[in-house]
Amino acid sequence: MIDRNFYAIAGVLLGLAFAQSADAAQPASQGIFTAQQVDAGKALYEAKCANCHAANLMGGAVTTPIIGNAFLEKWGAKPTAAGSPTWTGLKAADLLDLMVRTMPPPSNSPVAPADQVTILAYLLQQNGFPSSGSALTAQTASLRDTTLTFQPKVGAVEREQRILVWVDRQGRETAIPAPPGDYFLFRLSPDGKQIALEIQADKPDIWIMDAATGALRRLTTEGANRFPMWSPDGKRVLFASDRHRKPVDGKPVRHGDGHDVYWQLADGTGQAERLTFGEYPHSPQRWAPDGKTLSFYEIHPQNKRDIWTMSIDGDRKPRPFLATPNAEAGVGFSGDGKWLAYTTDETGRYEIFIRAFPDASHKQQLTTEGGLELLWPLGSKEFFYRVGKKRFARDITVGADRVTVGTPKEMFEGDYITSPGTRAGWDTVDGQHFLFLKTAPGSKPSARARGDDN
Ligand code: HEC
Repeated sequence: MIDRNFYAIAGVLLGLAFAQSADAAQPASQGIFTAQQVDAGKALYEAKCANCHAANLMGGAVTTPIIGNAFLEKWGAKPTAAGSPTWTGLKAADLLDLMVRTMPPPSNSPVAPADQVTILAYLLQQNGFPSSGSALTAQTASLRDTTLTFQPKVGAVEREQRILVWVDRQGRETAIPAPPGDYFLFRLSPDGKQIALEIQADKPDIWIMDAATGALRRLTTEGANRFPMWSPDGKRVLFASDRHRKPVDGKPVRHGDGHDVYWQLADGTGQAERLTFGEYPHSPQRWAPDGKTLSFYEIHPQNKRDIWTMSIDGDRKPRPFLATPNAEAGVGFSGDGKWLAYTTDETGRYEIFIRAFPDASHKQQLTTEGGLELLWPLGSKEFFYRVGKKRFARDITVGADRVTVGTPKEMFEGDYITSPGTRAGWDTVDGQHFLFLKTAPGSKPSARARGDDN
């Protein structure tokens, strides 16, 4: 009850305040949703979307901001003239279509199409659209009208800035001496001295940061490049890129619609090489201890996330390891390469399981109280994971046909930038020091580490 009232009051105030200022700037007739829809949309967003996209719409470790210039441009919006604060050209209907068709629902609670429209009203309002007297429906003609004008809030909405911090097993933090930035998913090099990092300036790209000095250099420029990972010898960086894709029917390329695994020398010399050629999106996961077997995801329209492998030295033919209607992700190999641990939602929430590799036999469940953001450094006798805001370590011993795990050891609890579960938003090489993204002091706070996103 308290929550409902809070949202109702906050939502109405927000809606009215915004309607007034916006109406002063432009005709009310250009609003396409009501303040009440914004109010209801905010509550729905908090319940259905915030776990993955954050309460402030800035995204987590893997989701991109759904607010601001760059986001609006992806949906066709642009200034009416160079430098003008007034924008036009937004394809709101495409945005709605994406939400209705493809948005991963939080476990077992799909979002009704009518609610998607209400959430869209909130998204539009947050991005600078004025509200008005008429309600938005999926049939509203103006949803398809790309000549709607509005003034994006980007001037008012500051992008969240993040820092990188080391955390030891007692929870003590040491920040890397680098300026705050638009940092997203990162991976430590095998020797722990460098960080491959996704930075979102005008678009996502991979950068290399020196872990001691924080010095940065840019690695990629072409296309949108995300989800970095090192080769076992530390010479190359793998990432997911959409650079091979061209716009279809004038629609801009969206990274989520299709990307493949590429790799490139980390020193910036030479060309990037494409490793997968998928019908569906692919992105890199982990290397087996042989240093040649690469695991990667496929995001399948029916089977959600599946785990595939390929031999980098051999025929490079993709082979499915686990392709079921459940979401399988978050991979870690045992030191002997005979087992593969992964995260799956098959029980209705994310838990960590393990199977023999490569034949996927001998399935065993390793966690029972939830298990997200799995880390299992190669050769480590422990694996690490998140439940809510807490980080756990757990002993693990692999046998010929059985795996034994110890009881969960809670290491620390903290408000770090999280990933929804499928991909670890933290990293470690030695199992003693863990690298995290954290909202920079003074930057907009966010509610991302709510602890209930499984
Ligand atoms: C389980 C996690 C999860 C949930 C829940 C979720 N999303 Fe997403 N969303 C993603 C991921 C992953 C992507 C693709 C990566 C990206 O672009 O951030 C995405 C992409 C998007 C995009 C496109 C972003 C772009 O720039 O192309 C929009 C818009 C969006 N989500 C809105 C929503 C809304 C609204 C909800 C609630 C109804 C929602 N999402 C719920 C994970 C989630």
